[in-house]
Amino acid sequence: MDNQIPTSSTQAALTNDQNVIPTANSGRTIPAPIAMKDVEHVPSTRWAPSFASVTKIKIIKLSHMRYRHPSSGVDALITFLLDFGMEIVKRTENAIWFGGYGIDQYVYYAEIGDEKEFLGGTWEVESWDDLERASKLGSSPIVELKDAPGGGHMTTVHDPEGFPVNFICGASPRAQPTKQPAEALQVNDEFSKPRKGAFQRFEPGPAAVHKLGHFGLTIHDFELQFRWYTSNFNLVPSDILYAQDEAGNKFDVAAFLHVDRGKAYVDHHSFFFSVAAAQHVHHSSYEVHDYDSQNMGHYWLKQKGYKPVWGLGRHRLGSQIFDYWWDPNGFMVEHYIDGDLVNEDTPTGRQPAGDESLAVWSEPVPSTFLD
Ligand SMILES: [Fe+2]
Repeated sequence: MDNQIPTSSTQAALTNDQNVIPTANSGRTIPAPIAMKDVEHVPSTRWAPSFASVTKIKIIKLSHMRYRHPSSGVDALITFLLDFGMEIVKRTENAIWFGGYGIDQYVYYAEIGDEKEFLGGTWEVESWDDLERASKLGSSPIVELKDAPGGGHMTTVHDPEGFPVNFICGASPRAQPTKQPAEALQVNDEFSKPRKGAFQRFEPGPAAVHKLGHFGLTIHDFELQFRWYTSNFNLVPSDILYAQDEAGNKFDVAAFLHVDRGKAYVDHHSFFFSVAAAQHVHHSSYEVHDYDSQNMGHYWLKQKGYKPVWGLGRHRLGSQIFDYWWDPNGFMVEHYIDGDLVNEDTPTGRQPAGDESLAVWSEPVPSTFLD
């Protein structure tokens, strides 16, 4: 009965008692400036140097990932991505477009070829002018995506370390979702119990992918990459990680960047790069509905015999609950939920790199995770 359930006001009275100690573990939602009060802040001059007086190319958001898969591995890839929660939007002889249930026509483009290759993340830009200026970074042609659902035009340039970077403009969003989004569950905690006389019931299956959230690269030259991405585009670091040499000098080794849309709130990071021994795409990450769907998706993939990487766990920077998997051709993908949102008022933090910066709770990070 309700009157036997302690309420949050009775809890508040309890916690005002000096003799009451906190529960053994706890989580809180804290405004960013307070959460980051003990963290070194990075001034915006770090990513808006004087030579950036050239107007930056305006990205709206991350659109989709592009990979090439060997024809021998395509059937396995399709089975995996369907079990991962994507759906096939369109297939031709040489390509497959996989979608989620959000407004994007597709979130993952798989070219079918001889050898696997990372073909880059794809950024949607504001205007044709932005697309043209992006193409000039690499003297690259602008091509019409005649086969792609939603169409549009795209150009591909290469960053200073040779990673392909795609820009798209003029693609039409999906007119209406193909799937009904999952309902928000009513969740009872120890004090607040909105779910009365109703039961939680679930259908097991893949965790349906909503959208592409972010991707990341392992790189060699932090300063070179940081300058290129932050001076050419409205990409701004939400967090920077540093290492220290023997003399105690700090040098930056990783950055999590968001798409700067001014006052509008955006994902804590749409892109990251981290210095490592080998240069390669690290992973791409896709948003799913909630903790239950993420867990059901985890066990769905597990029972199918796919190779887990790391998860579930809760990241510290960005706060997402993560779950990493290998696809059958050796690219890493992630399901995430509950990421932080930031805007131009959110401070940029700089903190030491280390395993503790990666997760609040999880199994230990695999030793090869950041190779
Ligand atoms: Fe991630």
